Amino acid sequence: MNQIDMAGRTAIVTGGADGIGRAISERLLASGAQVTMWDINDANRERALAEIAAGDRLRGDSIDVTDAAQVQAGFEAAVAAFGKVDVLVNNAGIAGPAKKSWDYSLEEWQSVIDLDLTAVFLCCQAVMAHMMANGYGRIVNIASIAGKEGNPNACAYSAAKAGVIGLTKSLAKELPESGVLVNCVTPAAIRTAIFDQITQEHVDYMLSKIPMARLGAVEEAAALVAWLCSQDCSFSTGAVFDLSGGRATY
Ligand code: NAI
Repeated sequence: MNQIDMAGRTAIVTGGADGIGRAISERLLASGAQVTMWDINDANRERALAEIAAGDRLRGDSIDVTDAAQVQAGFEAAVAAFGKVDVLVNNAGIAGPAKKSWDYSLEEWQSVIDLDLTAVFLCCQAVMAHMMANGYGRIVNIASIAGKEGNPNACAYSAAKAGVIGLTKSLAKELPESGVLVNCVTPAAIRTAIFDQITQEHVDYMLSKIPMARLGAVEEAAALVAWLCSQDCSFSTGAVFDLSGGRATY
């Protein structure tokens, strides 16, 4: 593992108790950061806190990122605990139902948009003024290859993730000289608990599209995200970083 210097930096990782988010939390901790995980899954949060055992450099709060008041309270708690927030990783997300768009109910569509897009906006909004005042910040949004290409049987997810790409570019253009950089990553399939929400047929479809002919690993996502969270990432903002085993051609 290459060393990334995050000493003295403090991060919030949404959905940080499992899957890609947990790997990001662990990589940031290994790089010297203080990390607050926001996750609604109490069991996973408690397990991550116990297993990672990073002492007082790791906190976990039960924050539903679709709830603006909880996000604001979570931000204030993170600042109270660690003094500031340098890094926000918007990682929490769901796949939503795997079915044709004409079979989606409005509620199903809305629940995916609420978490995968609107919550990203809410969390960015909660930290941006603080980061601008500090003259430093790194925001990394976890989008998806689905946002670039559109996956069948995932209309809300594809639309939300395309929205995250647009949101990333827009925020970056509002902040270019502030010291706050906003970037996103677009992973292809990485085996995590999110696979429990989708069909084997959908997994096979995603795998068939990857030229490297394998799934990604959470550690591979964490490695790229950790660099984007660091001071070494200094001339990229509003950028979309591929993580798709060669699937993306742009
Ligand atoms: P996961 O299901 O393993 O983890 C998601 C975490 O978010 C869980 O710990 C869950 O409790 C938490 N969460 C769910 N709703 C929440 C809420 N309202 N507030 C706070 N936390 C909440 O998922 P995975 O695979 O680690 O995905 C992480 C991100 O990566 C998601 O945004 C996903 O769309 C994206 N992604 C995943 C890919 C994959 O193949 N696994 C591929 C491309 C993107």
